[in-house]
Amino acid sequence: MRVLVTGGAGFIGSNFVRHMLTTYPEIEIVNMDVLTYAGNLENLTVFEDDERHTLVRANIASEEEVEQVFRTHAIDVVVNFAAESHVDRSLHIGAEAFIRTNVMGVQVLLDAARVHGVGRFVQISTDEVYGSLGAEGSFTEETPLAPNNPYAATKAGADLLVRAAGKSHGVDVVITRCSNNFGPYQFPEKLIPLMIANALEHKSLPVYGDGMNVRDWIYVQDHCSAIDVVMRKGRSGEVYNIGSDHDVPNMEIVTQILGLLDRPESLITFVEDRPGHDRRYAMDSAKIRSELGWTPSLNFDEALKATVQWYLEHEEWLEHVRSGAYQSYYEMLYGARGPVV
Ligand code: NAD
Ligand code: DAU
Repeated sequence: MRVLVTGGAGFIGSNFVRHMLTTYPEIEIVNMDVLTYAGNLENLTVFEDDERHTLVRANIASEEEVEQVFRTHAIDVVVNFAAESHVDRSLHIGAEAFIRTNVMGVQVLLDAARVHGVGRFVQISTDEVYGSLGAEGSFTEETPLAPNNPYAATKAGADLLVRAAGKSHGVDVVITRCSNNFGPYQFPEKLIPLMIANALEHKSLPVYGDGMNVRDWIYVQDHCSAIDVVMRKGRSGEVYNIGSDHDVPNMEIVTQILGLLDRPESLITFVEDRPGHDRRYAMDSAKIRSELGWTPSLNFDEALKATVQWYLEHEEWLEHVRSGAYQSYYEMLYGARGPVV
């Protein structure tokens, strides 16, 4: 089987490529990534000389580049990870790149998949498309889409385009909606790696608002095994929620990281809140568990410990991704925020 993985040099995509190449000896991966700030070939150095892995630097929003990839490689399945993925960038830098990649790019891929008769199209979506929960309940696959920030809105738009390609053109599509991932190779703009990186340097840890926003945290390898199951066994046209039932406030995560790194809680700084900040996410993932027999394998404490350990052992990786443009991004986002008193 030849799988086109888009965005496979990013955090989850590179973990998925690793999962597939180590699990299936016969698999071939074509990894199409334009290498934005979030795409990093250092995430995949171990597969540099593996004949089963071909990296193509190309943009999913370019019809010519996508056509070239599909013409050159006979693709059986597409798994689309490629996206602008950070909420804060969509709020503070602008939505344009998000619309181009997350919406227009998805349509370009869907058209190519249809024209070239691809067997299955897996869209990697997110729980953020459902919006925010009150004190009770969790998102099911039937929860109406109600995105609250530009990133989430573009992901919701993509989900509708994917659905339409299935309904109108008979493309075999499936959509996964997962909760917050963490683990090795995550770019330090997201909560967990940013807090680890800052704590390592004894820098302050910027917590938005009151720190009581709740997310359901899943280890990236569990997300990858879930995508694998959906890709192989999911029913065409269906949506599958993926979550690990570890719903906790941000403050709990941050204090746990400080504990693991033996740093004082005085490093925590409450800063101005994210605009439109979703209060709580929680996933009901009963469908994938009962229908496809998937369950997450690691508990949160073990997985967080392993993640902290990974960053401790990969200081050079961290140094590389935080050089150059990262510093100006950090200054732009957090310099302007300042502590809330
Ligand atoms: P990431 O930002 O780490 O990686 C995105 C990758 O896509 C990068 O390698 C980047 O170079 C590539 N890319 C961006 N624009 C592209 C384009 N136009 N053409 C080709 N490649 C392009 O993101 P991530 O955290 O690994 O997320 C991957 C996917 O999973 C996204 O679709 C995201 O919406 C979804 N998701 C993420 C999470 C999470 O917690 N991180 C949770 C649920 C779903
Ligand atoms: O839920 C899935 C989504 O999870 C994915 O679709 C997105 O691609 C991914 O970025 C993530 O979105 P979040 O906005 O939930 O993740 P982030 O790591 O940016 O923030 C997690 C929580 O931590 C959120 O409540 C905001 C808060 N936060 C974040 C940062 C970066 C802080 O308090 N301080 C910070 O510096």
